[in-house]
Amino acid sequence: MSTQKTIKRTTSTQISARKNEQPIVALTSYHTHTAAIADPYVDFLLVGDSLGMVMNGFETTLPVTLDMMIAHGKAVFAGAKSALIVVDMPFGSYEESPQIAFRNAVRILKETECGAVKLEGGLHMAPTIKFLVERGVPVMGHVGLTPQAINTLGGFKTQGRTKDLWQPIIDDAVAVSEAGAFAVVLEAMAEPLAAKITKTIPVPTIGIGASNECDGQILVMEDMLGLSPRVPKFVKEFGKVGVAIESAIKAYSNDVKSRQFPSQDHTFALKDK
Ligand code: KIV
Repeated sequence: MSTQKTIKRTTSTQISARKNEQPIVALTSYHTHTAAIADPYVDFLLVGDSLGMVMNGFETTLPVTLDMMIAHGKAVFAGAKSALIVVDMPFGSYEESPQIAFRNAVRILKETECGAVKLEGGLHMAPTIKFLVERGVPVMGHVGLTPQAINTLGGFKTQGRTKDLWQPIIDDAVAVSEAGAFAVVLEAMAEPLAAKITKTIPVPTIGIGASNECDGQILVMEDMLGLSPRVPKFVKEFGKVGVAIESAIKAYSNDVKSRQFPSQDHTFALKDK
């Protein structure tokens, strides 16, 4: 076999091998420029279906389509040069049968060139995960709060608040890892439950609102940047990008209105930053 270029991107197997090693750093990304900025600092970028809420103003992730995920997956792949790119399979694109899931996962891999897909669900999705992995599709699992099931879960609520509610979530994580998922997102769950799952399964757990006990962390980039108008309580804002954008736009608006627009150069030559 010959290869055109040396592949330098992080692979799903490298992420999987990070169990009990240095914590895995991940962020969501939907967009070329921010993917390029984040790329040197993260192990993987997730093109999450949260883009439905963050980029499109939907109330849930349910309206997100496969075409939307593919368009944003291509944009992120173009910006990032070393991180693994994982693309979410949207609601309705994988639940019906392993065959339909495979067909749609292949579209995502072929059209975006990403290195893996993520899908939500535990025990009931394990046969689909196995089917995909056996056919060359790396899959990241996602258990606990699964936003695509919002209408049956009854709201965005922390899962496994009391010990009697833990076992089905543990069973989900075990099933997904036994099916071949290379890592599993644990969303919105009590710390002792996240700790127990992390000790039980052999692949890395990636927490979002699931405590420091996980093998890695993921946040929605706009939330940690301080760009989202409302964020979940567990989110630490590492920047104030919303405020910075507003003051830049105000300054621009003032310049235009007072005819102080600075550029005298009317060429379109690009300048390096
Ligand atoms: O869609 C998304 O952003 C996600 C993360 C919350 C893990 O699935």
